Amino acid sequence: MNSKNPVIVAKNLTKKYGNLTAVDGISFEIHEGECFGFLGPNGAGKTTTIRMIHCVSPITSGTVTVLGKPSHIDNREIKLITGVIPQEINLDPDLTVYENLMIFAKFFDIPHIESKKRVNELIDFVELESKRNSKIDELSTGMKRRLLVARALLNNPKLIIADEPTTGLDPQARHLIWERLRSLKSRGTTLLLTTQYMEEAEQLCDRLMVMHQGRILKEGSPRQLISDEIGREVVEIRIAKEEDEKLIAQMADLACGHERVGDTLYFYCRDGHELMKKIVDFNLPNVLNRPATLEDVFLKLTGRSLIE
Ligand SMILES: Nc1ncnc2c1ncn2[C@@H]1O[C@H](COP(=O)(O)OP(=O)(O)O)[C@@H](O)[C@H]1O
Ligand SMILES: [Mg+2]
Repeated sequence: MNSKNPVIVAKNLTKKYGNLTAVDGISFEIHEGECFGFLGPNGAGKTTTIRMIHCVSPITSGTVTVLGKPSHIDNREIKLITGVIPQEINLDPDLTVYENLMIFAKFFDIPHIESKKRVNELIDFVELESKRNSKIDELSTGMKRRLLVARALLNNPKLIIADEPTTGLDPQARHLIWERLRSLKSRGTTLLLTTQYMEEAEQLCDRLMVMHQGRILKEGSPRQLISDEIGREVVEIRIAKEEDEKLIAQMADLACGHERVGDTLYFYCRDGHELMKKIVDFNLPNVLNRPATLEDVFLKLTGRSLIE
């Protein structure tokens, strides 16, 4: 067992909606100061798990604790120590950036003078000074997401839960959010992040679990998952299924495995160089040798891509 302090401990956590099991008996631990990721496609059960952790969705069975306190509907103790960046942009469109934060501060009973100070600091932190008095409709999606980050920090939370914080953002806006999240982590805040983007998981997460259909497929550091499941490199070849038999037979001793998805054949290997040399004999037009990614891990485990 890990000796670090657990911030979140889930045991056989399960959520059913009628006949649908959205979260299927998952167990995991998140430690103090780490960034832990839930990586999975749409419908994997990421948001449902998060909603049970921060006490807004009833648990069907199993348990989850936050800093030793059991999660159940409306557990205010947990809400006070947790900051949530929701998947939906649920800001009040009738209020300005500043007012949205001031209203939210009331929920935590922060005294007015203190609220004003903190709100101003947070507006600076997410670089929204120029939009301080703008209504929500005047903000870009990236700015709205940054405002959600600021809002989640009002109560100085020990734990930040970010549910797909960069979905729908362009690369520049995405990098700004990543940078802010990394800055929080460097101050010792524990982060729980969900994402459909393997690049995001690789960039931010110390450890992650790969989720699919309410279950955990694998858990570990991004590097460890890639090295355990794939090796170091992938050779990607566009080749019709009818024509690949001979190729697979010839590569058997050089590759650690292979997978076919649609029109593409993937060879997993420690070193793609040797494979590439041998593939030349086959005279194929579309061959690519690249480093292995978490997307390859997901593909290997499910035969599907993370984003379809
Ligand atoms: N309120 C709800 N009622 C019924 N089904 C739901 C509800 N919320 C989520 N689901 C279903 O639960 C599954 C997991 O959803 P969700 O946790 O939102 O996945 P993710 O966040 O990974 O995309 C999906 O099949 C989804 O349709
Ligand atoms: Mg979700």
